[in-house]
Parts: sequence; structure tokens; C-alpha cells
Amino acid sequence: WQAPQPLDLKAFIREVPDFPKPGILFYDISTLLRNPEAWQIATARLAQEVLRFRPDSLAGIESRGFLSAAPVAQRLGCGFTMLRKPGKLPGETVSLAYGLEYGTDTLQVQADAVRPGERVVILDDLLATGGTLAASVALLRKVGAEVVGAAVMIELSELGGREKVDIPVASLMTY
Ligand code: PRP
Ligand code: MG
Repeated sequence: WQAPQPLDLKAFIREVPDFPKPGILFYDISTLLRNPEAWQIATARLAQEVLRFRPDSLAGIESRGFLSAAPVAQRLGCGFTMLRKPGKLPGETVSLAYGLEYGTDTLQVQADAVRPGERVVILDDLLATGGTLAASVALLRKVGAEVVGAAVMIELSELGGREKVDIPVASLMTY
């Protein structure tokens, strides 16, 4: 008897050199999303990690974070909040600007997105410098969430993103 080989998710990630800028190696999830079996396995593994944090609901970061958050939320039978780029959400919103290498970016959430103390897990496709994740944690806290963890498909460990946040981070693939 031989234990079945776990599906190697990295085999479904295309590595694109010099995108979006010279010298940057881009880890492209498009090739994983095109393969239904690989995407289902990635979603199942993310769900398993997320469940450990015992969330009440999930939050996904626009735009690629929606692709990991929404299917996991469906699978776990919990709700899902969109953390969006500015100007997209109706009603009262709360914003947070954060620094990038050049310039700043902003994320927004609806003010009534969570109940006070609601246990929220954040999902994204990829953790690089951690700037996006750190801003998402701060933004969700602003609207009263208890952020209990984060999960990503891909972590670029050399960039030290997980050190930017004070919550546990689960990742499926590390480079
Ligand atoms: C990418 C990626 C993560 C973030 C990670 O999103 O999807 O959200 O960068 O980088 P960081 O850890 O250095 O902050 P991007 O802003 O390119 O937009 P997209 O998801 O809309 O494609
Ligand atoms: Mg993103």
C-alpha cells in the first residue's frame, strides 16, 4: 500500500519573469484557476486552515483575494465581507490608506460589515511584503472585528510579510 500523493499545487502556478516590472518574478494563479481539480483542492486546503481559527465570517481583499475567500466561505457556510478599492461600496464606509513602495493605496469596508467582536479571518491569494494584509487587519479592527487569522495560497517568505501582522497566517505554498 502506498499513501496517495498529495496534489502538488505549485505545479499549477505559472512563474512569469519580469512582470509587472523588470526583475519581478510573478506567481500567476490563473493557471491554477483554469484547472477545476487543482482549484477545488486549493479551496479545500484553505478551508481546512481557516476552520482552525474558528471564524464567524471571512473577509477577502479585492480583487484576487475574492477568488480564495468566496469559495472557502461557501464551503464553510459562513458569510463573506469585501475589502474593496475606494469608491466601490455604497453606504457608510471606513477607509484606510497604506504605503506602497511608490505612493499609497486605500482599502474600504462598509461600516456595518461585522458585528462587534465578530471573529473574522482574512483571505488573499498571495502574501508578499504584508502591506496589504496589515492594512486589512487594521481596517477590520476599525469597524469592530476581532481578526483571528489570515490564509493565503502563496507566501513569498523572503519578503517577511507575516512579521507585519500580529495574527497567525496560514499559507498553502511557500516560495
Ligand atoms: C497583490 C496580491 C495581494 C498583494 C500582496 O494584489 O493579490 O493582495 O498584492 O502584496 P503585499 O503583501 O506586498 O501587500 P494587487 O494589489 O496587485 O491587486 P489585485 O489583487 O487586484 O490583483
Ligand atoms: Mg491583491
